[in-house]
Amino acid sequence: MKVGMVGWRGMVGSVLMQRMQEENDFAGVEPVFFTTSQVGQPAPLNAGTLKDASDINELKKLDVIITCQGGDYTKAIRPELKKAGWNGYWIDAASTLRMEDDAVIILDPINRNVIDAALSKGIKDYVGGNCTVSLMLMGLGGLFKAGVVEWLSSMTYQAASGAGAPNMRELLSQMGVLHGSVAEQLATPGSAILEIDKKVTATLRSAEMPTKEFGFPLAGNVLPWIDREVEDGQSREEWKGYAETNKILGAANPIPVDGLCVRVGAMRCHSQAITMKLTKDIPIGEIEEMIKNDNQWVKFVPNNKADSLAGLTPAAVSGSLTVPVGRVRKMKMGPQYLSAFTCGDQLLWGAAEPLRRMLQILKE
Ligand code: HSE
Repeated sequence: MKVGMVGWRGMVGSVLMQRMQEENDFAGVEPVFFTTSQVGQPAPLNAGTLKDASDINELKKLDVIITCQGGDYTKAIRPELKKAGWNGYWIDAASTLRMEDDAVIILDPINRNVIDAALSKGIKDYVGGNCTVSLMLMGLGGLFKAGVVEWLSSMTYQAASGAGAPNMRELLSQMGVLHGSVAEQLATPGSAILEIDKKVTATLRSAEMPTKEFGFPLAGNVLPWIDREVEDGQSREEWKGYAETNKILGAANPIPVDGLCVRVGAMRCHSQAITMKLTKDIPIGEIEEMIKNDNQWVKFVPNNKADSLAGLTPAAVSGSLTVPVGRVRKMKMGPQYLSAFTCGDQLLWGAAEPLRRMLQILKE
């Protein structure tokens, strides 16, 4: 199997490469590495030299192409390959093709049935889902599979990584500028906190804050809008909640999913506070079992302060495939209303992991 790797040097691509090497995914395949700028230079893994990512004739020789190069690349190259009669598998991290009828959103621990049905129908385009949607489903897939979710609202706390590598750097620079503005006072025990706060707020609002990427301060702040405006006052990120969740599940009767998506100063873990209405009153113990038993990565966190603060945070989860779910309890609105909190690494289950697993499915 000849597998082309495109966009393997960017942030998602690097995480993908690291995971594929950890899991020995290149065993039994012949990788071909592509580049948009360094044709002819040595490829990684002693795989010859880098090929031109826009060379349709080179791309046509592949059985599978995995791309983390971004939406513009997909838009430009996928139709050209189709025109050239290429019939291989296209595995993509970008959102461009996600909602196409002949594309599947891949999250195999949740929708292996949908993937298998598509493979047997000859579908060729397999696309990673939006990170918040994938992470929510990895955590709460058990409840969806049991058919007990009447509707779900997710209020997100999304990390800087979702906006890109430069944004992660900018967040840290902003933190540094804020700290620098009051470093002296902080070093003086007993200096007045209101004076410190005043300076920090003045710095937050000043031109000293680096805001080229986000447009606004994220450090010491929250940003209640992600991606562009779509319709009905929704952001595109919020729109994806309903559209992608139901597409991933292959739901015959779509489940209402909506909420507000918010950027916070976390590095690479998205968190979500969930409110759900269940289709019926289910004992809390049964609900916990459904969540726990869905897949091997979900980790149920008992609803107490110590476990929640130790294990249900971006700091605890960053860099791991574990998806903790906690704060699960019945709400005061009634016995069918359930709360939950979950977080997960945006670059792993939220981006790279479903792609590498799709290649393994094709190898089966
Ligand atoms: N749209 C997501 C975010 C990342 O901005 O955090 C990609 O799924």
